[in-house]
Amino acid sequence: MSVEPLPIAVLISGSGSNLQALIDHTSDAYRIVVVITDRADAYGLVRAVEAGIPTAVVAYEGRDQRDRFTRAICDIAAEHEAAALVLAGFMRVLGMDAMGRFPEAIINVHPSLLPSFPGASAVEQALSHGVKLTGVTVHFVDEQVDHGPIIAQGSVPVFETDDADSLHARIQQIEHVLLPDAIDQFASGSLDVHGRLVRHKLPQSTEIVQ
Ligand code: GRF
Repeated sequence: MSVEPLPIAVLISGSGSNLQALIDHTSDAYRIVVVITDRADAYGLVRAVEAGIPTAVVAYEGRDQRDRFTRAICDIAAEHEAAALVLAGFMRVLGMDAMGRFPEAIINVHPSLLPSFPGASAVEQALSHGVKLTGVTVHFVDEQVDHGPIIAQGSVPVFETDDADSLHARIQQIEHVLLPDAIDQFASGSLDVHGRLVRHKLPQSTEIVQ
């Protein structure tokens, strides 16, 4: 029996290299139905158009307009029948309405090992804190910023010679593998969320030997 791929909306604000990784990932489990951005100049829009994916721009008009911004994004995703939102370098915080409309179906990629260094400047924070390891977290979005249940993490070393660009480049190599894998697992129904814990279901044929 073949199962339909899960329709997802991808939200971006910039270069869209994570979007590209999602496009390039060979998966029967998900398909990108729309790319939505808050920035009309986001290069990720070019990537979407080249891949034949519909795009939409929703301008961000400040915190006091967050609910309207969130509603517009959710409406566009719903028009394209998306069942989940993937925040792939999306630099805005969505309002609570999004969690209600896509419950346990919003996933974010963040460039640090959460709970260390949440927020917009995670790479710079890691450098200035002097950590020797940092990395990537893919997690479900909840009502707090960079906080929800963790699906996957990967680490990278921080070298003494690093600046923010070199460290971010190393982090992105991990993101481009971890994010599509996590979306694949989510879309194939392999994840169980229990409070903060995300469990990866074993394939039915897997025998546990003790
Ligand atoms: C990524 O490092 C992501 O973790 C962060 O913003 C960056 C976006 O990169 N939130 P790109 O637009 O996917 O190239």
